[in-house]
Amino acid sequence: MPVAAGTGTADAALKVRVNAIGREADEICSFELVDPDGAPLPSFSAGAHVDVRIADGLLRQYSLCNDPSETHRYLIAVLHEPDGRGGSKILHETVKVGDTLTISSPRNHFALAGREASFHLLLAGGIGVTPMMAMMHELEDRAADYRLHYCTREPGKTAFLDRLQPRIDAGKVMLHHDGGDPTQGLDIRATLAPFTPGMHCYVCGPPGFMSAAMDAVGAWPPHAVHREYFTSPEQDEERVDAPFQVRLSRSGHVLDVPADRSIVDVLRAHGLDIETSCEDGYCGTCMTRYLGGEPEHRDTVLDDGDRKKYVMICCARATGAPLVLDL
Ligand code: FES
Repeated sequence: MPVAAGTGTADAALKVRVNAIGREADEICSFELVDPDGAPLPSFSAGAHVDVRIADGLLRQYSLCNDPSETHRYLIAVLHEPDGRGGSKILHETVKVGDTLTISSPRNHFALAGREASFHLLLAGGIGVTPMMAMMHELEDRAADYRLHYCTREPGKTAFLDRLQPRIDAGKVMLHHDGGDPTQGLDIRATLAPFTPGMHCYVCGPPGFMSAAMDAVGAWPPHAVHREYFTSPEQDEERVDAPFQVRLSRSGHVLDVPADRSIVDVLRAHGLDIETSCEDGYCGTCMTRYLGGEPEHRDTVLDDGDRKKYVMICCARATGAPLVLDL
């Protein structure tokens, strides 16, 4: 899944070689990435993504869609979006087998629940199926019960059909094609209606798909809902940004954050080296502990429990007393 567009630097950089490029569906290619010397790659868990350095200062995030038990390769899949922000176009049109790419180590903000989950309901829209591919492997290794509903416009735009077919035959995967009209596709509300304790749902897809799913899980306990966005959800047009202050707990410095700047901007201007990727609240890279103050969270990564301790400083703002950061 293409999660993000960012301008930061890939951390824990790994050099990988493009070992194969496959066509998975119309406008969707997979890229198999391996260590140039054949060494094992850092392990990952289902739902993880890597940052791919597309060009200087340009990172994109892609979910790993191979079996997490594999250590000899990473597989990512990329939807060609000619009108997008450039990453997919470069990968589709210029990257060749044998090229070297720089990527980050895997990070996971979309992990599967543990043994407390008795049933895993996976909902994928379009290229949002990529993290689900790894999830199915991990769930099968655990002998855990799951279903995947995979929604696409038409069969030609449905990726990984060869890997999905045995699971379709086994009744584990259901495909839904809407021909471009969401009312003709999966009834998301009905699919997510019957919550029972032990169920966990995982949702990944384009903005309309995500908002339909999030509307449908209103009655679910937050800990049972897992989601990953391609891009930040639509912002509240009514929201007004006001200036506020942050205090750095280690130095005691108090810094002003103007209405038109982010906390990250201000910290960098004061010489701090802050790692970011999406700079839009949905990748999790800039997660920072806070020790006081009242953050106004604007991310899509943290759950209510996390929000008591952490803040995404690329997008969060604050009200009242200075926000005290553990920096
Ligand atoms: S940089 Fe992505 S959440 Fe902050």
